[in-house]
Amino acid sequence: MNKTFPETFLWGGALAANQCEGAWDVDGKGPSLLDHTTGLTGKYKDLHEMNHGRRLTEVIDTANNYYPCHDAIDFYHHYKDDIKLFAEMGFKALRTSINWSRIFPKGDEDKPNEKGLEFYDNVFDELLKYGIEPVITISHFEMPMHLIKKYGGWRDRKLIDFYINYCGVIFHRYKEKVKYWMTYNELNHLHDNPLHAGNVVVYEGENSLEITYQASHYLFVAAAKATALCHEIIPDAKMGCMLSLSTIYSSTCDPKDEFATFQLKQDHYYFSDVFIRGKYPGYSKREMEKEGITIKMEDGDLELIKENTAEFLAFSYYRSTTHKAGSTTFKDSGGVLGIKNPYLDTTAWGWQIDPIGLRYVLNEMWDRYQIPLFIVENGLGFEDKISEDGVIHDDYRIDYIKQHLLEIYNAIEDGVDVMGYLYWAPIDMISNSTGQMKKRYGFIYVDKHDDGTGTYERSKKESFEWYKEVIHTAGKSL
Ligand code: BG6
Repeated sequence: MNKTFPETFLWGGALAANQCEGAWDVDGKGPSLLDHTTGLTGKYKDLHEMNHGRRLTEVIDTANNYYPCHDAIDFYHHYKDDIKLFAEMGFKALRTSINWSRIFPKGDEDKPNEKGLEFYDNVFDELLKYGIEPVITISHFEMPMHLIKKYGGWRDRKLIDFYINYCGVIFHRYKEKVKYWMTYNELNHLHDNPLHAGNVVVYEGENSLEITYQASHYLFVAAAKATALCHEIIPDAKMGCMLSLSTIYSSTCDPKDEFATFQLKQDHYYFSDVFIRGKYPGYSKREMEKEGITIKMEDGDLELIKENTAEFLAFSYYRSTTHKAGSTTFKDSGGVLGIKNPYLDTTAWGWQIDPIGLRYVLNEMWDRYQIPLFIVENGLGFEDKISEDGVIHDDYRIDYIKQHLLEIYNAIEDGVDVMGYLYWAPIDMISNSTGQMKKRYGFIYVDKHDDGTGTYERSKKESFEWYKEVIHTAGKSL
C-alpha cells in the first residue's frame, strides 16, 4: 500500500479473561458461569449440523468433566511474558476483560476481593509500562455463578445494583489506568442464546422472548448507569457498547427475502439503537406488542437510557452469511449462520471468510450512528501444524488479516471513523464457542491441548513478525 493508516489508529489485539487467565479458583476468585462450562463433547460437522456440545454443569465435577477455562493458557501467571511479546509487536492497545468473579467472588457482596483487584493493577501497570492502552470489557460472559443460581442472572432487576457496585469499584480503582471501557460483550445474541450471551436464565416452559426483552431493559438501564458513573469518576474516559456484527446478505433479490434479511438485522440494531440512540425503536415495540410482551420499567429508566448513550460502537467481525424469508439461522460467537454463500471460502469451523463484508458493515454502522467504530475482534481460527523446521507457517492467517485490513482502509477512505483494529486473539487460547484449544488464532503458539496436556510454553508463529511490520509501518507494508 502506498498510504498509511491514521496516526491515532489503535493497533493491537483482544483477549477475554475467562479464555486466557485460568487460575479459576486462585487468590479468592469465585466460580463464574464459564468455570461451570465443559469442553466440546458433541459433534461438529458443518454449519447445518452444529451442536457444539459445551455443557453447563450445576456442580463442578472435575473427576468426570473437563473444564477448559479452569487453567486456560494460564495468563494469570504468564501475563508479564505475554505482554512483553505484545509490546515487541508494537501494540498500541490491548483489549481484555475483568473477570467479575475475581473481584466479587459471589457477585452480591459489598466488599471486593483485594487480591483480584491487585491482579488487574499488575496487568494494567505492565501494559502501561510499554505504552499499551488497556481497552476493558466489564463483562465478557463471566458472571459469577452465584448470581446465575440465586437470581437467574439479568432476569432480576437486582442485578443492576450488583453490576453498578462492581463498576464503581473498578472505576475508582483503575481510574488512572483505564480510559476505554465497554459494558458487555456481544449482547446482541441475547434473544438467541440467553444464558451464554446475556447471562439470563430462562426456565423450562417460560416465554424466552419475554424474559430476554425484560432482561435487556435491565441491561440497558445498568449500562446507562455505568456510563454516568464512569464519567463522574473518570471524566476523560470513553464508554462504548460492543456487538457481534456479521454482515447478512439476502440470498436472492426477491423483495420478500430482502425484507426478511433486513428484519434479521434489526435483531442486532435493537441493541445498538437503544445503546446509541437512547430509545426503544418502533420495530421492537411492534414485536413486543405482537407477542403480548410488556416490559416492566421504573420511573426515570427511559430518561437514564436517553441521557447516557454509548460513545463508540465496538464490534467483532469474523464472517458473513446469507438469509431468505422463512429460513432458519443460528448464532454463535462468530455471528449469524444461515444459508451458505457460494462465493466465499469457509473455514473448518464453517465460518465464511468475507473481507468486503467488513467494509460493508463499517459503512452501514457509520451511516446509521455517526459515532466512532472500533473493531475489537477479527481473526482466523485454524488448526495450526508445526512444520519440520519447528515453526508454524500461518500464511493463511496472514492473508486473512491482510485482506481485512485492506478493506478497513477502504472504509476509512469511504469516510468512516475507525478507532482501531484489535486482532482476536494475538495468542492461542480457549475457543468460546467450542471450548477447544485446537481452534487457534494466535501470532503466538501456546503448547496446550484439548486433553488438558501441555507445557504452556509460548513460541512465535510466522505471522508474529508480519503483524509487527504492519504496525511498525502503519499499514504501509500491506
Ligand atoms: C467472539 C467472542 O464473538 O468470538 C469471543 O467475543 C470468541 O469470546 C471469539 O472467542 C471467537 O470465537 P470462537 O468461538 O472461535 O472462540
